[in-house]
Amino acid sequence: MKILSIETSCDDTGITIMEASGGTTNASFKILADASNSQISCHIPFGGVYPALAKKEHAKNLPILFEEVTKQAKLSEKNKKNIPDAVAVTYGPGLEMCLWEGITFAKDLAKKWSAGRRSAIPVIPVNHMEGHILSVFGKKNLKTNKGKFSVKKVTTPMLSLLVSGGHTQLILSKKWMQYEIIGETLDDAVGEAYDKVARMLGLDYPGGPQISRLAEKVRAEQKQSLQGVSQGDGPRGSAGRTRPDSDPVKISFLKALPRPMMYSKDFKFSYSGLKTAVLYLIRDMGGLEKLNKKTISQIALEFENAAIEPIIYKTAKAIKKYKIKTVVVGGGVACNIHLQREMKKLAKMYKLKLLLPQKELTGDNSLMIGIAGYLQYIKNKKKVPKIDTIKATGNLKL
Ligand code: KG4
Ligand code: ZN
Repeated sequence: MKILSIETSCDDTGITIMEASGGTTNASFKILADASNSQISCHIPFGGVYPALAKKEHAKNLPILFEEVTKQAKLSEKNKKNIPDAVAVTYGPGLEMCLWEGITFAKDLAKKWSAGRRSAIPVIPVNHMEGHILSVFGKKNLKTNKGKFSVKKVTTPMLSLLVSGGHTQLILSKKWMQYEIIGETLDDAVGEAYDKVARMLGLDYPGGPQISRLAEKVRAEQKQSLQGVSQGDGPRGSAGRTRPDSDPVKISFLKALPRPMMYSKDFKFSYSGLKTAVLYLIRDMGGLEKLNKKTISQIALEFENAAIEPIIYKTAKAIKKYKIKTVVVGGGVACNIHLQREMKKLAKMYKLKLLLPQKELTGDNSLMIGIAGYLQYIKNKKKVPKIDTIKATGNLKL
């Protein structure tokens, strides 16, 4: 069947059309069309997502993207050619006013296409977080926007780590497509902490990629400087190596950042304390104006280490407790190099399968909504709620 999917939960607008077939344990997908719009540049002046503006941007961009996908998929409404058999749309969690834009658009399309048909085009409400979990199966060619992939049931128990601007969750799937949240953040999400700390350090929104870039740079420098020591630095060392003691920043001072909830007995997380600790650290160092680029990069590194360590620690704890066989990482922060590196180490240590999304599918996208929508549709034996009962649900749980 042909499925059109829509994503508008936050600051990304996306529409995808896919041909999907097969059952929930082995489904095949072919991308027929895919178009998206990121609102990052609109929100930069606000240092974060400005909901009313995001809603307006979704309303403006949905018809434009729809026009684009109709061309890509050679869909003709006039001749009723290639009309999708179902419309999937994110109904939560997310910003309700943004979710409504996608939901209303989806309903209007389904109603329009249903006119004159014997059976109505179904609207499939999709949980955005299930989309992030299933995003690890998606594959898209970036040049053509097309691609083919399959979703195969993985060996359970499966553990999903969902890390984004809105979520930090560990989800246990004892069985395929069954979800149980075993732990989540009590306050800020890890991506949100990245964004807020980046702002404190004078870096643009979204802060995750910026902090990651600076932290990786310092890690590479530290590695190089350590190699310089072991190989004998100075005139006989290779060119360009710096001595470790040439660093003017007191690293021991920076190490003072807390690892929030790291040793709590549950699988909960907390990021507001870490964020405040960075704020005080900057204040105690004389304010942002007093920090040079190198110090800013070192704070970025120390913040990243402090933010990721509890995630790795608790993921390892959950792996042991639930005898996990497969680990999935999804959400905007899933593309973080340091997190991926540490997760790969865990996977090796516990001999389990690690599934990471294609970089372009880590953030919010409509392709993952199409995957989750199709699988849910099949799982529910093609039963969908009455179209008028589908509502935006900002705090929807898995
Ligand atoms: O999933 P997503 O696109 O939207 C939400 O549903 O929140 O995630 C966006 C979040 C932002 O907080 C952004 O800073 C973070 O993902 N992010 C990163 C990286 N790339 C994006 N965080 C850390 N490292 C990255 N490389
Ligand atoms: Zn998301």
